[in-house]
Amino acid sequence: MGIAKLVGVILVVILSGMRNGAYGLSMSYYIMSCPLADLIVKNTVNRALRSDPTLAAGLIRMHFHDCFLQGCDASVLIDSTKDNTAEKDSPANLSLRGYEIIDDAKQQLEQQCPGVVSCADIVAMAARDAVFFAGGPVYEIPKGRKDGRISKIEDTRNLPPPFFNTSQLITMFAQHGFSAQEMVALSGAHTLGVARCSSFKFRLSNFDSTHDTDPTLDSNFAKTLSKTCSAGDNAEQTFDATRNSFDNDYFNELTRSFGVLFSDQTLYASARTRSIVNAYAMNQARFFLDFQQAMVKMGLLDVKEGSNGEVRENCRKVN
Ligand code: HEM
Ligand SMILES: *[C@@H]1O[C@H](CO)[C@@H](O)[C@H](O)[C@H]1NC(C)=O
Ligand SMILES: *[C@@H]1O[C@H](CO)[C@@H](O)[C@H](O)[C@H]1NC(C)=O
Repeated sequence: MGIAKLVGVILVVILSGMRNGAYGLSMSYYIMSCPLADLIVKNTVNRALRSDPTLAAGLIRMHFHDCFLQGCDASVLIDSTKDNTAEKDSPANLSLRGYEIIDDAKQQLEQQCPGVVSCADIVAMAARDAVFFAGGPVYEIPKGRKDGRISKIEDTRNLPPPFFNTSQLITMFAQHGFSAQEMVALSGAHTLGVARCSSFKFRLSNFDSTHDTDPTLDSNFAKTLSKTCSAGDNAEQTFDATRNSFDNDYFNELTRSFGVLFSDQTLYASARTRSIVNAYAMNQARFFLDFQQAMVKMGLLDVKEGSNGEVRENCRKVN
């Protein structure tokens, strides 16, 4: 009886460790097997971003898409084959950028320590380094993720679309264990980068049965967005005035109804999340702290460990 109970307790501990996905990951995972791993990724990211700072946004978004589909397992990097259409080829890949930076880091790591550092860890480290390069918070992440073997285009329907309202966003993020506050903090990644007209043009005409334009959108800013769209569906609009700096401008824009996506402005329009937007608009340090914590948490979503995954030789295809 006593032994059975003990075994039971141990099992529960092991299983809960596996369930939260953090089992086996650690800050010092590569300290013996590839001590320069963090440095190699950081130098590669810094070099690439010095020549094209707009790629910081691409790397951060890549990590988000990776983690939300099949867990943080580099499924986002897999190229389609003749038998399989991968996540990458979904319209929802929406301008994902920065794949070459991951390939470059992987190549160097394979020279230093072949077969050791997973592509999933490289994506997570690269996102962290991109946040810091752009002026955001510095944070450490646990490593030890293994790469997955599956990447399916159908899974991309589990990404949040730009027409979701706050309730829908809260529900979707809750399915991954995030609070409303963490969802708002993570949305703050839209301090970097751009959206294309196709992601917001539905706000500008025939919005709903009673409004031609989205009533949560400032009317002058609606003109700015329309002007952007006059150059076509792929024309880009920056989320805030400083597309390459990681700051809290995005939240200040929301308080002025200058959110580019419906899914951005809804965070201020809804009473459920407005106070969080206000808090981040007033206090950048608070945004930074919540953002870095939420990013570490996001980086642990359904991570694969041990024989559940592999270390890919080439980040674009399974071994
Ligand atoms: C809250 C739900 C979210 C929605 C509905 C959403 C939707 C979008 C859309 C529609 C775009 C523009 C794509 C295009 O038009 O090309 C975009 C861009 C971007 N998203 Fe999100 N996103 C969300 C959350 C996140 C999160 C959690 C992150 C990262 C932590 C993130 C990072 C980015 C970045 C950095 C860009 C700019 C990409 C670039 O300039 O290349 N987003 N997002
Ligand atoms: C994204 O998907 C489109 C098809 O919808 C494809 O043509 C494009 O190459 C993909 N982009 C990337 C970066 O893989
Ligand atoms: C959010 O969207 C859903 C689905 O369209 C709708 O049922 C719900 O009423 C909306 N919530 C708010 C607060 O607008």
